[in-house]
Amino acid sequence: MRTHYCAEINENHIGEEVTVAGWVSSRRDHGGVIFIDLRDKDEVVQLVCDPADNADAHKKAEEVRDQFVLIATGKVRARGEGLENPNLKTGKVEIVVDKLVIENRSKPMPFDLGDEKVNEEIRLKYRYLELRSQKSYDIFKLRSKATIAARNSLDELGFLEVETPVLTKSTPEGARDYLVPSRVHPGEFYALPQSPQLFKQLLMVSGFDRYFQIAKCFRDEDLRADRQPEFTQIDVEMSFCTEDDVIAVAEKLINDIFTQCGFEIPKTFKRMTYHEAMEKYGSDKPDLRFDMAMVDVIDIFERCDNEIFSNIAKAPKRNRIKALKVPNGDNIFSKRQMKGFEDYVRKFGAQGLGYFQMKEDGLKGPLTKFFTEEDLKAIVERCELAVGDVVFFGAGEKKVVLDYMGRFRLYLAELMEIIPEGVFEFLWVVDFPMFEVEDGRVKALHHPFTQPKSLDFDDIEEIESIAYDIVLNGTELGGGSIRIHKEEMQAEIFKLLGISEEEAQEKFGFLLDALKFGAPPHGGFALGLDRLIMLMTGTDSIRDVIAFPKTQRAQCLLTQAPSPVDNEQLKELSLRIRQTPTA
Ligand code: AMO
Repeated sequence: MRTHYCAEINENHIGEEVTVAGWVSSRRDHGGVIFIDLRDKDEVVQLVCDPADNADAHKKAEEVRDQFVLIATGKVRARGEGLENPNLKTGKVEIVVDKLVIENRSKPMPFDLGDEKVNEEIRLKYRYLELRSQKSYDIFKLRSKATIAARNSLDELGFLEVETPVLTKSTPEGARDYLVPSRVHPGEFYALPQSPQLFKQLLMVSGFDRYFQIAKCFRDEDLRADRQPEFTQIDVEMSFCTEDDVIAVAEKLINDIFTQCGFEIPKTFKRMTYHEAMEKYGSDKPDLRFDMAMVDVIDIFERCDNEIFSNIAKAPKRNRIKALKVPNGDNIFSKRQMKGFEDYVRKFGAQGLGYFQMKEDGLKGPLTKFFTEEDLKAIVERCELAVGDVVFFGAGEKKVVLDYMGRFRLYLAELMEIIPEGVFEFLWVVDFPMFEVEDGRVKALHHPFTQPKSLDFDDIEEIESIAYDIVLNGTELGGGSIRIHKEEMQAEIFKLLGISEEEAQEKFGFLLDALKFGAPPHGGFALGLDRLIMLMTGTDSIRDVIAFPKTQRAQCLLTQAPSPVDNEQLKELSLRIRQTPTA
């Protein structure tokens, strides 16, 4: 229906007849002459309907309103002097319309397209209209490029794209499952996959050697700005590989994706152990776009004259005393702000927040009286303090201190606006613990198929695994591990996790069986595609990069899913709703 997309029209077409098609993004009547901005997928071109040129076209243009669908034919001409629009690719020209077809009309828009302040409920209800904006088109163009780049990169590396089932059995990624009732097997359910983890391991047993999939995953968990109940992973598995081999594939893949999307990033990424990340940054996904690493001062505080601190310091395995230096903080923060900081960390379990200010004549602050001159000097040296710096202290139980000091570090950096934009800071966090103990229960930190480094241990939480996460700008972009490929080891891990033989057999019997039939050593990883696009496009919400996303309450406002079903359907599935939940 068209001869050109709007973006293609420029000075080279002056004098030529062209046909363009799209939506009216604005219409202005300038005393008889009507100007229409016509927008197609990615650019706007100006149409001019002058009664002196073509009375018919002008008459049609009088009827035109915003978002009407038009097909316009006319000659391209240069815009008058001073009337050019440098913001448009087509800004030097306009089309003098000879023929105007109104292909379709539109009701007035329920909201101003492109106005990001509009209530999200309205935007999601009319998501297809929000997607009509330039910003959305650009995001999905990038997403498409990234997906194709991932496919090509993995294809070149010899990976086979294989689809795994969506109607399946529960997979152990730690969230709740979405269940699908079976009609044919009354009272039985499929689970939607939280990831293709078990199937990709089975494909290694099949000898496929290198597998990938752009896989939909489903997790019923509390939603946040970077989580959706339904999301996409670039999922990869390979055989006969070491951790370094897997990391090399991931780095090549990420490089290919970023390069194809027009970004330059380092060929290889830094690595840091989980232990170092936690101790220095209080997080297993540290944002390294800025420094502000924490320093351990527990040995110095042990000698101080304050019982609270010295008692905490007596148990250095269980407790931590961490210092966080803020360069020039003394000149940046007001007294009131300093007080507010304590309220901030208290929300995350801190008992209080100590601080020193570095003045011309040494450390000052309410805590100095508890320390000898020598120890104050030791603090200055350990924290590398210069005049004007402030140093904050968190003291208490290890997990709590690392958590709130890590959050505080981020909070301060945001407050001081020191996090650079447009920077990609990648980091591998390696050597994750195999297990964590919560309320006396042993849980797998990644998943129970991860290979431990060794099973000799005094403290179960000290067992390390061959598991790695890729972190970008403080967000977990992906993760993976070398897997257990021996059935005996897998059975041992289930035992440590308190999973009985019967339960293991019932849940993962098929995998345990497969491990008995010549399973090769294997490992892999998965990248969150949605998060990748979020970080590339710099959007704050994962919903912006998913065509038809769900709300924080896991609803699709467009289709009204989830929704009740009629009794007939329930009966067919042998289901009965016990009570109608109130809204
Ligand atoms: P994991 O559970 O770490 O690993 O998931 C991998 C990546 O998927 C993304 N992701 C999500 N994105 C949006 N919404 C969610 N609810 C969500 N949950 C996870 C994250 C995350 O880093 N089977 C393993 C991988 C492996 O070991 O090979 C797995 O799924 O970016």
